[in-house]
Amino acid sequence: MGMQDGDIERAIEAVRAEQGDRLLILGHHYQADAVVRHADERGDSLELARKAAAHPEAERIVFCGVRFMAESADILTGAGQTVYMPETAAGCPMADMATAEAMEAAWARLQVHADAWLPVVYVNSSAAVKAVCGRLGGSACTSSNASAVFRRALDGGHRVFFLPDEHLGRNTAAALGVPEDETAVYDPGRADGGVEPAALARARVVVWKGFCHVHTAFTEARIRAVRRERPNARIIVHPETPRAAARLADARGSTSQIIRYVEEAPDGSEIVIGTERNLVERLAAEQRGRVTIVPLTPSLCSDMARTSESSLLEVLRDWPESREVHVPEAIARDARLSLERMLAAG
Ligand code: 13P
Ligand code: SF4
Repeated sequence: MGMQDGDIERAIEAVRAEQGDRLLILGHHYQADAVVRHADERGDSLELARKAAAHPEAERIVFCGVRFMAESADILTGAGQTVYMPETAAGCPMADMATAEAMEAAWARLQVHADAWLPVVYVNSSAAVKAVCGRLGGSACTSSNASAVFRRALDGGHRVFFLPDEHLGRNTAAALGVPEDETAVYDPGRADGGVEPAALARARVVVWKGFCHVHTAFTEARIRAVRRERPNARIIVHPETPRAAARLADARGSTSQIIRYVEEAPDGSEIVIGTERNLVERLAAEQRGRVTIVPLTPSLCSDMARTSESSLLEVLRDWPESREVHVPEAIARDARLSLERMLAAG
């Protein structure tokens, strides 16, 4: 007979108690409740990168999230630390929309019209893409600090080449007051990225044509409908939401910024949230009776949902080599430059 849920929970807690500080379990906010309840640290992608770097005593780090996050943890940790994923197939379709080769081709294309470009890569990218960025003097960012990283580049007289999320790039540029006609989209599927020479010459920000399917589910039509259905509600969306819809919301924020927005809301308020379903449902349950939380549209990240309590226990019990995450040092060395510049940016 298989283990019951309660048995799995107790077995995980027994390993945690036995391992103490040698074990660090990190859980992203988009993970299911049954998984994140076992995490030592719960956070958004920026907070979890910081936590991974801040625990040199942890010999084993188990990352409940998706691959690019576990890779970043491996890059930011020392030689005596091993990072594991309960589900190694948990990837990010958006991260897969940019390869290092395509990025290098785009970079060469940009140089034709101006030499003041600086690459900024979203952490939702492969280690190889982060390595190219690091070699070119650029920085990584997350949705929490994209504005700070963009501002520093623009204030330094640079033009920003951002990949792979078109929408975070556009929303960040707009928040910093960059006019729409100074933001261009580079489509890696088209010759020369499909950017007209005049548009490229004018551009202060060029964004890659990638997207997150979880957040493109949030549409202008849905926001307008919610405004009619719930005239008193405030609407907040994650900045991976397409610009046309995101601009109609009352606020835009990363996962942690959304949580803070909810926590700071007055009693009795109503908030509609456009981000991944596990987080929205958890906030709704936590706030029940104080703040009414409603999903803009229920939208699940199926990669985040791969990790289960039983796959977490399998790692903790057997430490299978197949679930270790290792970024080759030749790539890690340059990718680390991108991540360290990001952590230094705030
Ligand atoms: P943050 O955790 O940075 O808000 O990003 C959300 C996300 O899409 C993670 O994959
Ligand atoms: Fe990738 Fe979107 Fe899932 Fe985040 S929510 S891991 S960006 S697919």
